[in-house]
Parts: sequence; structure tokens; C-alpha cells
Amino acid sequence: MKTLIKNGTLVTASESFRADLLMDDGKIALTGVNLPADGAQVVDASGKFVLPGAIDVHTHLELPFGGTVSTDDFYSGHKAAAFGGTTFHIDFAVQAKGERLHETVERWHKKSDDRAVIDFGYHMAIADLTDDVLNEIPQMGNEGIPSLKLFMAYKGVLQIDDMTLFKTMMKAADAGMLVMVHAENGDAIDVLVKKALAEGHTTPEWHALTRPDWVEGEATGRATALAAVAGAPLYVVHVTCAKSVEAIAAGRARGVKVMGETCVQYFHFTIDDLRKPDGAKWVCSPPVRTQADNAALWDAVRNNSLQAVSTDHCPFFFDGTKEIQYEGKPIKIPGKELGAGDFSKIPNGLPCIEDRMPILWTHGVGEGRISMNRLVELCCTNPAKIFGLYPTKGTLVVGADADVVIWDPNKKKTMSASNSHQRTDYNLYEGWEVKGLPEKVFRRGELLVDGGQWHGKPGSGKWYPRAAHAPVL
Ligand code: URP
Ligand code: ZN
Ligand code: ZN
Repeated sequence: MKTLIKNGTLVTASESFRADLLMDDGKIALTGVNLPADGAQVVDASGKFVLPGAIDVHTHLELPFGGTVSTDDFYSGHKAAAFGGTTFHIDFAVQAKGERLHETVERWHKKSDDRAVIDFGYHMAIADLTDDVLNEIPQMGNEGIPSLKLFMAYKGVLQIDDMTLFKTMMKAADAGMLVMVHAENGDAIDVLVKKALAEGHTTPEWHALTRPDWVEGEATGRATALAAVAGAPLYVVHVTCAKSVEAIAAGRARGVKVMGETCVQYFHFTIDDLRKPDGAKWVCSPPVRTQADNAALWDAVRNNSLQAVSTDHCPFFFDGTKEIQYEGKPIKIPGKELGAGDFSKIPNGLPCIEDRMPILWTHGVGEGRISMNRLVELCCTNPAKIFGLYPTKGTLVVGADADVVIWDPNKKKTMSASNSHQRTDYNLYEGWEVKGLPEKVFRRGELLVDGGQWHGKPGSGKWYPRAAHAPVL
């Protein structure tokens, strides 16, 4: 089936230009001026921008975590993603203790394959590095999972030690794979949390007070140093603060192959949000911090100290004792209330997969902080390059997958849980006005979102193997 998008302005990481775009058989077949319809269905994009589908390289769908499970699965999360202009994501397949990596991958495919609507890949999160698992790492790279994640925090649950991190880096360097870290010093946090609770501090703001920016900056610097010694490329996930940005920038200045992302929520929220009566909604790790850190992150995405903006989408209900309806079906999953009376028991994570692009457009592009080309670079092109998908995904080039978003820069919406497709009972941006939203979203040429209409079919999204030896940006 052929679709011709006419009269739009195509936006890539490097340029914006008026052109038509023809999609045929799931691919971008042609771009050019005044292309003939030639039997194609024509979509008029006058006054609109035409963007590559966004890529979210940091998500946790249906993740067992904090005594419960994240509430978006590979259907509802994909629907929400598509309504926000995201057509590809990479989820973390998290190894259980004693599990071999290929078993983890199989477990993740069982959750995803029948439900998927957008396309997707996996990172492999290693939590139990036996010798067998270490030797299995290159096979993961050969099978399309060339990125490995390690948690330097969550003591007693997912946290690994430096030996595990370093051995993984050495192996990854040999195999052309990318190591990703959640950089926080979990040992220091554990001491601080126990002390705070012993002193009777139980409220959500203590989540941030027991995870200060120094513990993130220290872990980022440590991982960067170990990557330098191992000669391994490193990608620091969810950077939240100036100290961590500085550690990455210092490593890059010395030629270390280190890159980093931040997530959209870290541009706006602070510890003051955790102090609100419903502060548990903002509990994520690392925590939201200060306005100075918000500003440092905008600088970092402008000056390329950070190369990507993702979401760390990991939603939980604010009140999981109450049922919500999703597509007419009741759903009730324990959520943030698990931490009433003890901040350390609040499930860590936020909903954001649908919100990222409209929020970044409004507050990044709309307020002159970044250009729309840089937005495309941070959310589409760089993620595709760093994670071995480029140019099949992440740009508007002939031969690429026709993952295309018609973006209406004048369309407005008041953000709310009630008009969101994320499967949870709150929205972080409740009541915020955004200007700039997807109008139509195509995945491999198939129309998933048309205004407010949803056409996505479960099981139509494809898992993509990704290439090893991707560039370090
Ligand atoms: O709070 C968070 N970020 N939850 C998801 C797991 C992680 O650390 O990324
Ligand atoms: Zn993390
Ligand atoms: Zn995460």
C-alpha cells in the first residue's frame, strides 16, 4: 500500500525542507518536490512537520519491580508510545538470579510478541554474572542484543559490584557491544536509607535526600574510569544532575568513549514535587533534584555532553487499591501506596512514554532551548545510531522503514491522566498545556494513530535485531 505525504516540511537531525514523502511497502520510497500521486493514497501535510518516528531507548514494560509490576504492558505501552509519536523502543530484559541470558530473552518475548504494536528491541540487563553468563555475552551481541545494562544501585536486588561491571566491560569491548549503567552508589544509598528510616523520616522527599547528587556523580565517574581502562564504550542512562554531566564531559574530554542520556522528567521536576501530598508520584531513581540541575541538563543536551533524551517509562498506579478501566477492561495493580509510611518501599518509576515528545516540543523547541533538528537528533537519530538501528530507523531517508510522524505544531492539549493512553491513574504533567502534537503516526507505513483514532493491532509490532559495533557519538 502506497501513501504520499504532500506539502509538509521534512525535519531531520541536520535540516528542514519542504518536500513530499512517498511510503511504499513499509519503506520510505521517495522524497522530493511535487511527487505525483501515481495511485498512492494522498495525505496533505500543509502547515505540518514530518518527523522520523521517535525512538525511546529506555523503557520498562511489565517489569516486576518493588514488590509489584509496572502497569503498562507491551500493548498499552505501545499504544501510549504511538500517541506520543514514538514508533520504536528498547526495553530492558532483566535477568533473574540463576537465569541464563537466552532464557531471559525468551521470557521477554513471551510478554511482548503477541501484544506489540510499535517495533522494539531489547537491552540485556545483567544481575547475576556467572562464568557461563559471561561467556554468553558475545552470543547476545550476535543475536541482535548488543547492549548490556548494569545497575550500580538497588542493593540486594539488582545491584552488581565493580568486578562484575569491569568483567562485563572487558567482554563487551571484545565483542563490539555497548555497556549501559544505572549510575548511583547503591552501598552509600543503603546506609543513608537505613539511617533516615531509623531517625523516623518516612516521606517521599527522603527518597531524594538519601540519594544525593554526589552518589550519582561518583558512580558516573567510577563507571567512566572503568570504561577507560577496559577500552569499552559506555552509555550512562537517566542522568539527572550537573555532577553526573560533569563526570561524562570530563571523560569525553579525555577521549573516553562515554555517552549519556537524560529523561524528559528531569528537565522540569524537583525535590519540591516530592514534598507535595502526592509526592510518591515523582519517586524514581535517580531522583528529581533541583532547578540548577534542570538547567544543567538543558545545557548538556544543547552542548552534546548528553546525546539522547529518553523516558525511563516505568509506570505504577498512584493508588493501586482502586481499579481503573483500560479499553473497557478493569485493571488493578498494587502501586505507590506500598510505600505509605516508608519511602523506601514506594515502587520506583514514572509514566512518560506518551508525554516525552509533546513536552520536549513545547518546552524545548517552543521555548527556544533546542531546535527541532536537535530534538530529532536527540530522540530519533542519535538513539538509532548509538543502538545499531541506523539508518533503518531514526531518519527520513529513502530505503528506511516508513516510521513517520506528521506533527502539528499548533495542536494543543491539556495533559491529563484522563486523555492519556498510558495505563495508570495519574499523569506527571496533569494540567500542563502543550502546543505541538502528533497528528498521524505511521509505523512501517501503517497508520497507527489518526488524530484521536487508534488503528494499532496487537502482534503487528516487530522485534528488531540490532547491530553490534555501533558508533560512539
Ligand atoms: O525509578 C526508576 N528509574 N525505575 C525503573 C528502573 C530504573 O532504575 O531504571
Ligand atoms: Zn535505572
Ligand atoms: Zn530504567
